[in-house]
Formats: sequence, C-alpha cells, structure tokens
Amino acid sequence: MEVKSNNYSVYIGKDVLEDFNSILEDCQGEYSNIFIFCDENSAKHCLPHLIGQVPMLIGSELIEIESGEHNKTLSICQEVWETIGESKADRKAIFVNLGGGVVCDMGGMIASLYKRGIKFFHIPTTLLAQVDASIGGKLAVDLGAHKNQIGLFRNPDIVLVDPKFLNTLPERHWLSGLAEVLKHALIADADYWTFLSGMDLQNEEFLIALLQKSITIKNTIVLEDWEEKGIRKTLNFGHTIGHALESNALENKGDLLHGEAVAIGLAVETILSQMTNSLTSEECSIILDSLKGIFNLEPIKEEDFSDLIEWMRHDKKSDGAQINFTLLNKIGQADYNKTVSENVIEEAMYRYNSFLNESL
Ligand SMILES: NC(=O)c1ccc[n+]([C@@H]2O[C@H](COP(=O)([O-])OP(=O)(O)OC[C@H]3O[C@@H](n4cnc5c(N)ncnc54)[C@H](O)[C@@H]3O)[C@@H](O)[C@H]2O)c1
Ligand SMILES: [Zn+2]
Repeated sequence: MEVKSNNYSVYIGKDVLEDFNSILEDCQGEYSNIFIFCDENSAKHCLPHLIGQVPMLIGSELIEIESGEHNKTLSICQEVWETIGESKADRKAIFVNLGGGVVCDMGGMIASLYKRGIKFFHIPTTLLAQVDASIGGKLAVDLGAHKNQIGLFRNPDIVLVDPKFLNTLPERHWLSGLAEVLKHALIADADYWTFLSGMDLQNEEFLIALLQKSITIKNTIVLEDWEEKGIRKTLNFGHTIGHALESNALENKGDLLHGEAVAIGLAVETILSQMTNSLTSEECSIILDSLKGIFNLEPIKEEDFSDLIEWMRHDKKSDGAQINFTLLNKIGQADYNKTVSENVIEEAMYRYNSFLNESL
C-alpha cells in the first residue's frame, strides 16, 4: 500500500524493500555516498534483512550510535556530521535511517542540516516509529531533559514500512508503540477504536491493517496542518502529561519509554477530558479500563506532581503561564488548545492514582 504525503510516499507491506532496490537502481548516478544510520539493535536485528533485500545498499557506509533516548543529543549529531564530513559526503549523499524513533528523528535532523540538506529515507523498525515518528516531517533532538527542543520540519524522501522488522521487537517496545496507535483511534476514529479492541498482533493481516490505518490517520492530519498551527495539535493527546513524565524520568535517569509515558498521559488526559471537556463518564471508564488492560500502568508519585507541572509549563504546547492540552470530547474526536489550571491537573493525577488503586 502507498500512502501519499506532501512530496513523498509511505510504502507499507512485505515487499517494500524489494521495490526500494529498484528505486535505487533507477536513480543510480543521482546520488554519491549512501550512509546507513542505525543503533546497535537495529544494526544487529534489521541490517541483515535490509541488505539481503536491497543489494544496492551493499558497500554503503554504516554509522552506528548507541541506542536510547539519552543519546538523542546535538553532541552525537556533531560527531556524526564530523564522520560523514571525513567521508567526503557531498550534497548528493543519501542518509538511510534504519531504526526506531530516536534514529529517525536524529538521522533526519542530521541529514536536513548537513550542507543545508541532503536526501534521507526513513526505514522505521519499531512499531512506534512505523506508525508515528517516521510520518509527518518532525525532526528533533533533546536539550538536556527537555524533549525535542532543537529541531525542524522537513519531510523524508521515502518512508518504507516493513512489518517484518517488528519480529525482533521486545514486548516493552510493542506496548510503547501501541500507546500511539490507541491515541490515533481516540482522537480521530471511533471505528478504529472498536477494531483495536479485537487486538491480535500475532496475526499479520491485523498488524498490516493497523499500520495502514494509523499511518493514514497521522498522514491525513499532517497534510491538513503540517506546521502544527491547528488540527495537528490533536496528535499531542496524552503528550502534555507524557512529555512531562518523560522529561522528569530523563532528568532523574529513570527508565521510562516514550510510549510508556504516553500511555499514562492518555489515561490522565482522558480523566481531564471527562472533568473539563464533554467526554462522558461512561466513555471515560471504557477508555481507562482498556488502557489498564493493555499497559502496566504505574501510579504517578505525589511528590513529583509539582515538578511535573513545571515541566508542563515549559512544554512547547503551552504558552507562557498557561498549560494547554488536547482533550477528547468523545471517543474518536478531540479538541486542542484547551487550557487547564494547575489544581485541576493535580486533581486528575490524584484520580488516576485512585483509579489504579481501586482496581488492584
Ligand atoms: N518525529 C515524531 O513525530 C515523533 C513521534 C513520536 C515519537 N517520536 C520520538 O521517537 C522516540 C521513541 O521512538 P522508539 O520508541 O522507536 O524508540 P527507540 O528509537 O529508542 O527504539 C526503541 C528500542 O528498540 C530498539 N530497536 C529498534 N528496532 C528494533 C527491532 N526491529 N528489533 C529489536 N530492537 C529494536 C532500539 O535500539 C531501542 O533500544 C522518542 O524520542 C520520541 O520523542 C517522534
Ligand atoms: Zn509520541
């Protein structure tokens, strides 16, 4: 399946890499060096399949970084720029980002800024990167514990989504990606939410349908509002709380994945949607029970509440003193730029903790 975006396409399916080989054959001569950018896990688990399917990549230069969000920094970008500079990469060089959201976000940024921009392809290898990070042209690195503070908007030249890469993905990262998948359904498509209640990720047809649906939802929203002036903000559902939890964990060297933070964010922001927007109590309970059934939701430590509020105040989505949220008005529909006061946010975090306690 091909999903058309602004000036590039996302190809989804089992044969996408073979097609990629033909694309490279057809444009031989239009590019110079090819760099494959990856981390140690995508190098180990995904590179052999990629090279096996795309012989045109044999002889490419491999650039491997250490995995993990704490490596999504400008100083690692600098090292990579120096490396490709030493390899005499010119403006016709190509960057192939093979990995999860960290590799795609960073690799895209490295390519976009090198000599004012060289071509880059995303080959996402985690569920999260396939349904979310590789789509929409947002590229960034973190600044200290502040998430995605340094970055830009620039589209890749191609995105290739091969579900086979997910065979080696650890359970924790499957769940992390599912948080974004559920978000897509909650903000945009009630039928998709129902479809997801029959979750069967072992079933390849189900998985491909899920990839196609989530990518289409994200792409449709992005096409309408690439620079996030309006409707694209709905994709931030779960992320005001989620990013605060993630930053707090990054600063304290905690072990919390992006999607794990988002899963908690979805739950708290669902409660907020019921408290301050028109989400009914009934739908609120349906969502919370589903989230609890899927994720191993952790309570939010009360002693962290004030730090979390501080992180939210500094979030890019907030303006000045106001903390803004995307909130549901029903399953499948969301409103953005909803300002919520600190005490209401705290109350929602208390209610979230009580919900987890009650259902123990
Ligand atoms: N640009 C965007 O629009 C956007 C959207 C959502 C998330 N993000 C960003 O994406 C990042 C999170 O992405 P992620 O969850 O993919 O994290 P990640 O890139 O850290 O990947 C998760 C882990 O899986 C490993 N891995 C990757 N592919 C594998 C495979 N096929 N088999 C086994 N292991 C594999 C990685 O080495 C890593 O250890 C965050 O930095 C987040 O901010 C960006
Ligand atoms: Zn996210």
